[in-house]
Amino acid sequence: MGKYPKFLMEHFQNPRNVGEISDPDGVGTVGNASCGDIMQMFIKVSGDKIVKAKFKTFGCGAAIATSSILTERIIGATLDEALKISEETSKEVLSQLPKEKIPCFTLATEALKLAIEEF
Ligand code: FES
Repeated sequence: MGKYPKFLMEHFQNPRNVGEISDPDGVGTVGNASCGDIMQMFIKVSGDKIVKAKFKTFGCGAAIATSSILTERIIGATLDEALKISEETSKEVLSQLPKEKIPCFTLATEALKLAIEEF
C-alpha cells in the first residue's frame, strides 16, 4: 500500500459520497475495459450547481479513493466548474498514481462527464 500517497489512502479508508441518489438529475455509467469493473456517478443539480454527487463502484481501492475525492470537490460547483475541477484533479492525481491504476481514476472522470451530459 506504500505506493499510494497519504491523501488517497485516507479517501480509500473513509470514502465520501458513496451510494446512490434516488432522484438524480444525471447518471453516468462507465466500465473499465482493462479490469471489467463498473462505476456509476449520480448528480443532483439546482440551477447550474451540483448540490449532491454520489458514486457506486465495483472498482478497486484507487477507483474508490479517486471518486471520493472528485465527488467531494464538485459539490457546490457549477457544471462548468465541475468539468474544470475534474481536469485539475486528473492532473494532480494521475501524477501520483501507479501507471496501472490510471484507468481506475479515469472511470470517475468519465462517469462524471456522462452524468453532466445526461443532465
Ligand atoms: Fe478495476 Fe481499478 S482495477 S477499477
